[in-house]
Amino acid sequence: MPGDKSLSHRAALFAPLGDGPARVRGFLRAQDTLRSLAAVRDLGADVRDDGSALSIGPGDFPATGRAAAGAPQLEIDCGNSGTTARLLLGLLAGRRVRALLDGDASLRSRPMGRVVAPLRALGADIAYRGADGRLPLVVTGAALRGGEHAMASPSAQVASALLLAALSSSAPVTVRGCRGARDHTPRLLARMGADLGGWAPGDDAVTLRPGPPLRAVAHDIPADPSSAAFLLGAAALVPGSRVTVPGVLLNPTRGGFLAVLREMGADLAVAPAAEAADGAEPTAAVTVGAGALRAVRIEGAVRVATLVDELPLLAVLAARARGTTELRDAAELRVKESDRLAAVAAGLRELGVTVVEHPDGLDIVGESAGFPARGAANIATHGDHRIAMAFAVAGLASRAGVILDDDACVAVSFPGFFAACAALEGAGSSG
Ligand code: S3P
Repeated sequence: MPGDKSLSHRAALFAPLGDGPARVRGFLRAQDTLRSLAAVRDLGADVRDDGSALSIGPGDFPATGRAAAGAPQLEIDCGNSGTTARLLLGLLAGRRVRALLDGDASLRSRPMGRVVAPLRALGADIAYRGADGRLPLVVTGAALRGGEHAMASPSAQVASALLLAALSSSAPVTVRGCRGARDHTPRLLARMGADLGGWAPGDDAVTLRPGPPLRAVAHDIPADPSSAAFLLGAAALVPGSRVTVPGVLLNPTRGGFLAVLREMGADLAVAPAAEAADGAEPTAAVTVGAGALRAVRIEGAVRVATLVDELPLLAVLAARARGTTELRDAAELRVKESDRLAAVAAGLRELGVTVVEHPDGLDIVGESAGFPARGAANIATHGDHRIAMAFAVAGLASRAGVILDDDACVAVSFPGFFAACAALEGAGSSG
């Protein structure tokens, strides 16, 4: 399994802040995370790649402070990656650099105001070059002050941007409303020596006091639970299957998918690895076997945050469960790489499933005997990697299969996805 996407972004973006080269093993080589790596290289970081591990050091990475008047403008293409764009905004807001951040059509349509507004309240100089609240925009390093921000809903990207900005501010920055949001950023910054006071996993608020220099730490990136979910989901649906994924990241803020699978009655076993040393993230071997599933209700902003990237797949699983699954409090899905509520509803209807779309969720009438569609279902992926993989799983679990209008988009997060599916096909009892 490929390395975790969130941890790979953070290894690339945070390593240049350390006091020397950091060794990164298990880095995810996918389009999104390679955008973050290219960005820090363009910003002056010393990136070396021996083909298996990376070494990332500060090199000429911009120091804390204001950009010089007339500083040249560096252009950074964030591609399809919201994490690259939003974390870079916080990282660069208080550094000696001027950068234009842009992205593809999907990223240009996604909201940036949720990061830009609280950064401006800290004194950041950010100017939109096109539509308000959207990329492209220019960030010019400014003197940042401290402050507090309460998030409307839990977002790791917003919290991370503010904590990264806090590293170059003159006073502490507090972020509230974090419960449920993935907590990789405070975990990693604490390991690098940042002053996060008494912060502990599960806390709703986090405060970073600027000052302590950060040290270089080794990164051993575990398998991505959000990518593993597609293979585990396929195992749940395809009769006679049993799949084990070893070394999966098992951070509680990423654990919602497995909790819902268990609630749906899946044949699921989680074998945690021994506690990782030096504050590294916990991992487990996860096994799923085929079996009947039942409908569930998924609601609440905190719960939704812990499985937000797995919801397209959960919708496909729900479509083969007994009963009607209700998803609520998930309006955030409308501003991901595509409008995922609309894309999932349309794809499931192509498979003959009855779906009711709500502003913040879906009702999915499960077809436990099999998808009703007689022919292959035509699926519009909207170039969204998780829509493509979720419906590929639906195809594996259907009689006539699916036709995806774009299979290349899986390379955003899981370039080996189709090869992994093919390798599992008929792998046998030891496979
Ligand atoms: C991510 C946070 C999540 C998630 C995204 C990756 C991260 O977004 O959907 O795929 O690495 O911080 P939000 O923080 O906006 O919910």
